[in-house]
Amino acid sequence: MARILMVASEGLPFIKSGGLADVIGSLPFELTKKGHEVRVVLPLYLKIAQKYHEDFTHEASYHVNINYHEVPVIVYSQMVKDVKYYFIEHQGYFERDALYGYMDDGERFAYFQKAVIELLNQLDYWPQIMHSHDWHTGMIPVLCKEAHGFDERYRSIKHVYTIHNLAFQGNFGVEMLDSCLGLDYRLFDNGNVRYDGGISFMKSGILYADKVTTVSPTYSQEILTPQFGEHLEMVLNMRRNDLWGIVNGIDVEYWNPKQDPEIPYHYNRVNVAKAKKQNKLALQKEMGLHEDEDVLLVGVVSRLTWQKGFYLLLEQLDALCALPIQLVVLGSGESAIEEKMGQLQDGNRGKIAFYCGYNEALAHRIYAACDLFFMPSLFEPCGLSQLISMRYGTLPLVRETGGLKDTVIPYNEFEKTGTGFSFANYNSNEMMDVLRLAIEVYYHRPQDWKALVRFAMSQDVSWEKSAYTYCLLYKELHL
Ligand code: ADP
Ligand code: GLC
Repeated sequence: MARILMVASEGLPFIKSGGLADVIGSLPFELTKKGHEVRVVLPLYLKIAQKYHEDFTHEASYHVNINYHEVPVIVYSQMVKDVKYYFIEHQGYFERDALYGYMDDGERFAYFQKAVIELLNQLDYWPQIMHSHDWHTGMIPVLCKEAHGFDERYRSIKHVYTIHNLAFQGNFGVEMLDSCLGLDYRLFDNGNVRYDGGISFMKSGILYADKVTTVSPTYSQEILTPQFGEHLEMVLNMRRNDLWGIVNGIDVEYWNPKQDPEIPYHYNRVNVAKAKKQNKLALQKEMGLHEDEDVLLVGVVSRLTWQKGFYLLLEQLDALCALPIQLVVLGSGESAIEEKMGQLQDGNRGKIAFYCGYNEALAHRIYAACDLFFMPSLFEPCGLSQLISMRYGTLPLVRETGGLKDTVIPYNEFEKTGTGFSFANYNSNEMMDVLRLAIEVYYHRPQDWKALVRFAMSQDVSWEKSAYTYCLLYKELHL
């Protein structure tokens, strides 16, 4: 049993922009089930303040130094099941429309991390392990070891740093080292935090943590290469003996077609075929698609960015429109992709539907109603959507990269096994070939399709195994 403090920039049930929030919303609970005492710290964003503020308990008020000024910090908390969540309040920094993407993101998250470090002192709470996630928290181990290394209470904390997406690194100007983080320029001069003439939160986290993890075994190997390493492959290779790849799970209570309150027809492995048709008809009606329970309905729920492989799809629009399928896309992101999707819907009313934006309830209905889930990612550290799809008997069609490779078993037409379909190279012709194969199986080999659905739904996509692996990792550190 260990005292673990998770530090992250988003987490359910409070706030979500991507899969990180799902992980922070479920892993802590799984760890408490295994006997650990877990707490979580998040920034108090506008959306959280609007919805939850009244239920919060005040924990502490203090100051941290940013830009040579004493800046106030107020900390609140709330229990969710057995996990205590702390929220760092600073209206100017965090109560904005979006979570990220501002000019002062470096300063905002430097403030956040300094506030977290001082929180331990204020509460006289000393975790044995601090588990930080992604670039927003990469300086946590640096601050503990360099700025507070003289203090045994900080020095004895062990650090786990999890990379959810190496493409976002938190690289900022060197002046921030002193002005926002209060760290010595020596750390720039000796190269520890230096990156491309400035400083990198991500690189620093990788170098200073006692253990580094990422969210699938395949991605943990991919990032050691120039193709996936985002210029940090050398640093990662230095830490390769301490680098673990632990695949994510999903909250199988929340994502459960047997009792999901967002879907009209509930189902299990036995009645999936019938209920899926009913859910399909309901979704077709809702989204303005032709109502046809037999057509192959393909779904996408995703950030619409280059990472997710949408450029492959854009290369094949004409071919795609000619196929005997319907397509429903939920997502937002790069405006070029959003525009194309809008045009595609306008030119193919009844066949293609696009909802531009974020919609949790609609996501559930798409997972439940579709036959095939489309995820041709360029790279994918883990991916949760394919896990959710399999749980809902919706076969994922993925590119064999990162966590997609680790979690989707491709259709084997000889053994009649698999949990989905996959292709290897980032090539739109290969993608179309496997999509045509999926169409062939759906319409002409229904017994095979049925077997794949059953097998997909029986996969263990829960946190059980992975939470156990995190326990082993913590054990290596704090014993
Ligand atoms: P990433 O974190 O890279 O965006 P993941 O597959 O790990 O990808 O997680 C994405 C999560 O966000 C899934 O739970 C998915 O259902 C959800 N999601 C993505 N886009 C939307 C959207 N537009 N509306 C609702 N949920 C979404
Ligand atoms: C990142 C990755 C995604 C992963 C998620 C949670 O957003 O892009 O692949 O599933 O983090 O770890």
